[in-house]
Amino acid sequence: MKLGVCYYPEQWPEDYWHQDAQDMAHLGIQVVRIAEFAWSRMEPSEGLYQWEWLDKAIHILAEAGLQVVLGTPTAAPPRWLVDKDPSVLPMDAYGRRKGFGARRHCDLSNASYRNASAAIVQAMAQRYGKHPAVIAWQTDNEYGCHDTLTSYSPDALRRFRLWLKERYKTIETLNTAWGNVFWSMEVGSFEQVELPITLAAPANPIHSLDFKRFVSDEVCSFNRMQTEILRTHSPGRDVLHNFMGFYGEFDHHRMAQDLDIATWDSYPLGHTETVPFITEADRQRWSRTGHPDLSAYHHDLMRGLGQGRWWIMEQQAGPVNWAQWNPIPIPGMVRAWTLEAWAHGAEVVSYFRWRQLPYAQEQMHSGLHLPNRQLDQGGLEARQVAQELAQLPPTRSNPAPVALVLDYESLWIYQIQPQGADFHYQELVFQYYSTLRQLGLDIDIVSPDATLENYAAVIVPSIARISPALADKLAQHPGHVLLGPRSGSKTEHFGIPAELPPGPLQVHLPIQVLRVDSLRPHTTLAVQQGQHTIGHASRWRDVVQPLPQANTSGLQVHAHFADGLPAHVQHGRLHYLAAWLGEGLPSVLQTVLHAAGVSTQALTGGLRLRSHGQLRMAINYGPDAAAVPVPPGTPLLLGQAVLQAGEVAIWDTAAGM
Ligand code: GAL
Repeated sequence: MKLGVCYYPEQWPEDYWHQDAQDMAHLGIQVVRIAEFAWSRMEPSEGLYQWEWLDKAIHILAEAGLQVVLGTPTAAPPRWLVDKDPSVLPMDAYGRRKGFGARRHCDLSNASYRNASAAIVQAMAQRYGKHPAVIAWQTDNEYGCHDTLTSYSPDALRRFRLWLKERYKTIETLNTAWGNVFWSMEVGSFEQVELPITLAAPANPIHSLDFKRFVSDEVCSFNRMQTEILRTHSPGRDVLHNFMGFYGEFDHHRMAQDLDIATWDSYPLGHTETVPFITEADRQRWSRTGHPDLSAYHHDLMRGLGQGRWWIMEQQAGPVNWAQWNPIPIPGMVRAWTLEAWAHGAEVVSYFRWRQLPYAQEQMHSGLHLPNRQLDQGGLEARQVAQELAQLPPTRSNPAPVALVLDYESLWIYQIQPQGADFHYQELVFQYYSTLRQLGLDIDIVSPDATLENYAAVIVPSIARISPALADKLAQHPGHVLLGPRSGSKTEHFGIPAELPPGPLQVHLPIQVLRVDSLRPHTTLAVQQGQHTIGHASRWRDVVQPLPQANTSGLQVHAHFADGLPAHVQHGRLHYLAAWLGEGLPSVLQTVLHAAGVSTQALTGGLRLRSHGQLRMAINYGPDAAAVPVPPGTPLLLGQAVLQAGEVAIWDTAAGM
């Protein structure tokens, strides 16, 4: 694994550049990402390109032996473009344009913005596409950052109507699919369809879902426009995008099909502070280390998105500036995060940023250096970990025994119609992930379309829509499959399946969900295995019965609610869990994993494990000291037998045998 850094030569005096490049190389940095916000310097007015400064910056970096990732600058449109056509600015739901003076002031549906973006990407790619130091391209920067993905502009509306026409062909088909007879919502032409906002009452959920599908397709097509240009003019270079933590407003699986590498921007403390479903107690507890499963969750998601190839494009290296509170990580944590990414198979960990900038919006954001050019704590740790990585034997990640299925459309469906205010899909998926990880497991996070055959267990926290093909795939899976509540509860057009949930899955798992119960806060239902209470359902339960007139002889009930209704049922290798479970989830997962032949190792506190080929890593997020579960006689390649908070140990599972 290589170390990298995010660098902005245009923000520093030119006479720093040479020394900066030398210092990067000495520190152990090999990859440098530049240029992703420098549109105003590359094209100060329309069609007038100024490359001299960038030629020079790339030359200096290359001379120091550094490899360059070029970012396309489309997240920061210059003033001249806004003046030329103010409709490049996105519009909020109330018809107000967002202004110039920050970043991401762009409407992905606007033709002027798309054309100007294509032009600058092409000009950059033509100039640098074959430069020997340029190894990769980053498209744009964090699509959707600052919650800017959706624009409610006339351009968005126009393209949404075209998108609908493409999907439904005739307006009669749309009226029927949407159920527009309800509340007299029928329309006579695609031009009569509006955006699902500022209505007197809630929008038709399929209207909202189709708009979300459209917005996702819109950003994917904008990205594809860039990747096609880059591939034409820069053959053999990897194309990547930097995704954000817990962001789901577009289908990452879909976008990743156009990329070579999936990357994400890892800010463990910033995310712990801002992710809405992390409890106040956990924010406090993990304020200086980050939540122990948060980074790993995204690493495993990226590995799936990138078909094995993934990077951290931006790694927190000290305090950030964008959360409510921005604490300093404990000493050693920047190193520990880096080693954890290595254990999950990252090819590159690139720190944000080389040096703290003493002006503008991010002046309180740390980097590897202080604004006065002095090496900061993050820089010291980067230097240390660069040396440590060089000592580790080469290895490759194996596929994990367990797949966790993440589905973006389910996220949108439950956002649009939560039915219970606290039914948060990402929280549910993260809860499953965290529970599996605390059982000592390696996990691959995959799309419902992924090939699942090699996994001993496939865990689907919930999937709103199950097509007959997916139902067949899950039923034929050679391992065990667990589906959580609300699975199969919706059709393609956001309706209830004719046969009732779980829809087409009933063919293989003969149960039917008659009604659903959304549980108020503090309302819980005991869940029992025999006489033993394993936990309590909260937030949600499905009222499940065996499917009438079906052969239900093989249907087993592993756990039931206190009122006798089934909670965890199994038929063949398919399992269904009819509730949002808190502390009972480990028991249910263990039943499934045991049946699948997956052995588990219960971890407590902040200790977490991860295998990387035959090497194994333990990391302690603290605060209590933790013994490394290394077999007696096995020497450690790195670290100590007892880990304090923020410490890491690595050993070779084949040594000492
Ligand atoms: C990311 C972004 C960077 C920088 C960073 C600060 O979201 O991609 O440009 O703003 O956050 O933490």
